[in-house]
Amino acid sequence: MRIERYTLAMAAIIAVCYCICPIDDSISLMAIYDNCNGDMWIEPTNWGSDANKCDWKGVTCNSEEHVVGLDLSFMNVGPTWPTDLECLPLLRSLNLSNNPIFSSVPDMLGNLSGLKTLDLSHMGLVGEVPASLCSAEFLREIDLSGNYLTSVPSCLLSMPFLQTLDLSCNMLAEDYSGMLGLEQGVACIIGGFATSYNISCNPAKSGAETCECGRIPQGVCPSEVETECGVGLLE
Ligand SMILES: *[C@@H]1O[C@H](CO)[C@@H](O)[C@H](O)[C@H]1NC(C)=O
Ligand SMILES: *[C@@H]1O[C@H](CO)[C@@H](O)[C@H](O)[C@H]1NC(C)=O
Ligand SMILES: *[C@@H]1O[C@H](CO)[C@@H](O)[C@H](O)[C@H]1NC(C)=O
Repeated sequence: MRIERYTLAMAAIIAVCYCICPIDDSISLMAIYDNCNGDMWIEPTNWGSDANKCDWKGVTCNSEEHVVGLDLSFMNVGPTWPTDLECLPLLRSLNLSNNPIFSSVPDMLGNLSGLKTLDLSHMGLVGEVPASLCSAEFLREIDLSGNYLTSVPSCLLSMPFLQTLDLSCNMLAEDYSGMLGLEQGVACIIGGFATSYNISCNPAKSGAETCECGRIPQGVCPSEVETECGVGLLE
């Protein structure tokens, strides 16, 4: 019964998306290529060729040949966001790290509802991370390190499945603990999942200067979850 309902829900989601998106993922992939300077990409092996899309560089498929992973790191993707990602409804993993996008984080990412892993490190991203990102509620790993981000929404740390959050080397100026909601013990509420975060290398004036990564503050969680800096395991 549960499985049936889940299958129906998935079918509905796919049907909704397919009304506005091409049925064939390879068309969506080529839209990304065309709209983001594909001609200038570094070694986009097989892209646009007759080869199966699942053999295009950086593309991972499931057994039904739907795209579930996209790793375009270091490929010179830009200068605009590959918004056609929205037409890859089963995407679970996205890696755009080390590409020249140089803009803010778009609301559109929150619409990638199946995402579990998101790596947007070293992309020249500026400004505030939009709260809409929290709509991608199954995210387990988020890497936003090495950008020029000035703030993150508090909902980011209370995401139910989040295990790893890397915000290091940005322009975050707020007090760390307040910003991450640790004062309220939000980190403890993420029970059942390991949680580590890295907020080192930011210009924040106060906060966890002595331990900027992965430590649950004393007294917030039971003592057995107090761990070394950088590990921050929370069971
Ligand atoms: C994204 O790609 C970079 C460069 O290839 C790699 O170092 C990094 O581990 C990848 N990120 C994830 C989350 O796998
Ligand atoms: C995300 O989805 C919502 C509702 O499905 C839609 O209204 C919105 O335009 C989408 N956002 C973007 C940036 O496309
Ligand atoms: C935290 O981020 C800094 C800067 O990116 C990095 O050098 C350091 O290794 C990271 N620490 C951990 C524990 O991952």
